[in-house]
Amino acid sequence: MNRIYIQEVAARDGLQIEDQFVPTEDKVKLINKLSETGLDKIEVTSFVSPKAVPNLRDAEEVMTQIDRHPGVTYTTLIPNVKGAERALACQADEVNLVASVSDTHNMKNVRRTTDESFTNFEQISSYLKGSKIQINGTLATTFGCPFEGEIDEHRVMTLIDRYINIGAAGVTLADTTGMATPKQVYELCRKVRRQWPDLPITLHFHNTRGMGLANVMEGIRAGIDRYDASLGGLGGCPFAPGATGNICTEDLVHMLSFMDYELNVDLDQLIAVSKDFEQQLGREVPGQVMKAGKISDLFPVD
Ligand code: COA
Ligand code: ZN
Repeated sequence: MNRIYIQEVAARDGLQIEDQFVPTEDKVKLINKLSETGLDKIEVTSFVSPKAVPNLRDAEEVMTQIDRHPGVTYTTLIPNVKGAERALACQADEVNLVASVSDTHNMKNVRRTTDESFTNFEQISSYLKGSKIQINGTLATTFGCPFEGEIDEHRVMTLIDRYINIGAAGVTLADTTGMATPKQVYELCRKVRRQWPDLPITLHFHNTRGMGLANVMEGIRAGIDRYDASLGGLGGCPFAPGATGNICTEDLVHMLSFMDYELNVDLDQLIAVSKDFEQQLGREVPGQVMKAGKISDLFPVD
């Protein structure tokens, strides 16, 4: 396997947890610049309660004001039917449903049990029937929960099956607070691949404990070719204690392009967008390649 699909989540996972509200116009500019870098998918925003996530209260404006490139899938996170109605009105390409494998995290995140979330998802699926919107299903806390600890693999497999049954075209396994180890990623992904050889699976890692890129390599070894990542390494779930950023998009693209994987992304352009956005945010972001430069950038000898 050579082609790896890079899916950018900074505008959603990143901005939802920032201390400040990023103005709508700046969000639109950011997404437009990201669209030009050749990313495969962009998570634009989330259609959730504006009280729960005030930073993304401008979801409609952002979704309708961005320029959409034909090669890019524009997705948006939704928790319920109301989110689906809003996404459909804005003609998103895809809705990304989110439920946590851990009931406790699901209660914190969306104030209902995981089972209740899936009942909602059946309604969403019926509601969207006949529309062009694709459904992706995310399983948060797949690799560990900050409240419950270890997650039962059998439960992960059952919930993947439930997503397939409601018509999800793809499933994302998310490591919400960076608890996955590379060994665990390989073992779980092998099982998932064996059971569903052709299902589009995305891995969504947070780099909370520095294992993010190691986890990507083990995911690839297990046959997974889609990865979420966030510009500058922004990101985190506001409803999980100790949450920190996603794996950094330009660091991921840098690593994979120097390992001869086939990507559609222009690394230099991505680094430039990341530098600009760091300035705009006015705080240092976790990304490393944007600070150190690429391994091919050499320094003059005096
Ligand atoms: N979009 C906008 N508003 C929504 C909404 C949606 N998708 N879903 C519910 N609301 C509004 C309702 O209209 C209601 O508004 P009101 O108080 O003005 O009447 C209010 O939110 C409460 O609705 P209710 O159905 O009782 O929801 P809740 O209070 O139980 O909250 C969620 C449930 C899912 C809406 C809320 O917890 C949420 O949006 N969570 C977001 C989680 C998230 O984004 N996490 C990070 C990413 S994983
Ligand atoms: Zn995340």
